[in-house]
Amino acid sequence: MAEPTTPALTIESVSRSFGAVHAVEDLSFSLPAGGLTCLIGPNGAGKSTLVHCIAGFLEPDEGHIRLGERDVTRWSAHRRALAGLGIVFQVMRAPQLDVLESTMIGCHAWTRAGFLEGVVRPPWQWREERRIREEALRALELVGLERRARDPADALPLGHLRLLSIARVLAQRPQVLLLDEPVAGLRAAEKRQLMHVFHDLRQAGLTMLLIEHDMQFVGSVADRVIVLDRGKLIADGTPAEVREDERVIGAYLGTAAAL
Ligand SMILES: Nc1ncnc2c1ncn2[C@@H]1O[C@H](COP(=O)(O)OP(=O)(O)OP(=O)(O)O)[C@@H](O)[C@H]1O
Ligand SMILES: [Mg+2]
Repeated sequence: MAEPTTPALTIESVSRSFGAVHAVEDLSFSLPAGGLTCLIGPNGAGKSTLVHCIAGFLEPDEGHIRLGERDVTRWSAHRRALAGLGIVFQVMRAPQLDVLESTMIGCHAWTRAGFLEGVVRPPWQWREERRIREEALRALELVGLERRARDPADALPLGHLRLLSIARVLAQRPQVLLLDEPVAGLRAAEKRQLMHVFHDLRQAGLTMLLIEHDMQFVGSVADRVIVLDRGKLIADGTPAEVREDERVIGAYLGTAAAL
């Protein structure tokens, strides 16, 4: 019999309140390695709170978060990032660097020297910088931005800026990637481009958890959908299954979001 493999990410009875508001209440689920899971739910369902707990920006009141076998519940966000957790922020300020340099910053997670550190470097640092450059270029290729490598980052349109923020996190070599509404504000063509990127990343074996409101996008990229409502998990299945789920339909009824 095959050995059961450890999930890439495990959420174990996680709760987090703000005063009297139970933003996340006794949530448990795990993500096996590989695959793209979307986290959906009406406004105020607790999606961002959960993702912030996973990222290490918020401490859960109760429960555990595991990255592979490691219990990271009390780890800083930085330590989690070094351990393979990548987070793509929705708002990324364009740095005054070119696209390649902006991506190279992500590599500091695994470099010996730290990027942009010194002007006088020993030979091994130059070799390392070449490796960083190659790896950053590979990350840009993954998101289809390699031809913009020498363009200033602050001249990119929103869709490309979003791709750049993903490339930078990919340069960290994450095993698990968290994204909060990655297609919000993007045009149809940019969404399609991101759809292809997620498809390629899935093929590459990355484990992804996305908060997403756009159900059409969810239907086209997700293997699995987890639905939260008022801090609780109310459905967990394929996009088609959750769309038909009575509790999910009930939770969205009367909200502005479309299922
Ligand atoms: N820092 C905070 N202080 C107080 N209450 C908070 C805080 N963060 C979230 N909440 C409350 O916790 C609940 C869950 O909020 P959360 O932002 O996690 O929901 P969400 O599912 O991400 O919603 P949205 O779809 O609007 O982004 C809400 O009732 C919210 O008002
Ligand atoms: Mg939110």
